Amino acid sequence: MSTIRITDQNGVSHILDAVEGWRVMEIIRDHGFEIGICGGACACATCHVEVADEWVSKLHPANDDEEAMLDSVPILSGGSRLSCQIIFTPELEGLEVKLVANG
Ligand code: FES
Repeated sequence: MSTIRITDQNGVSHILDAVEGWRVMEIIRDHGFEIGICGGACACATCHVEVADEWVSKLHPANDDEEAMLDSVPILSGGSRLSCQIIFTPELEGLEVKLVANG
């Protein structure tokens, strides 16, 4: 079974079952975390995550729409991504991200 590892806003680590073809946002939301208000339309940034350094270069680059939405979040890091724009594939087995408090 595929998994990803997330760290929540309280610093607690979780290993989540991951489904190929799902958006990483959907995987996280399916486990009860309150993210992804716009449903993946790249219009809310509630799915903002910090991708672990070792994973940043393994993801496809953000497109213009994602970059524009990321510009609206209060704090950006080098690993900032919108998890709704990352589709889980077998190559992302073990992906590590941290949920970002955007409030
Ligand atoms: S779910 Fe809204 S931007 Fe990702």
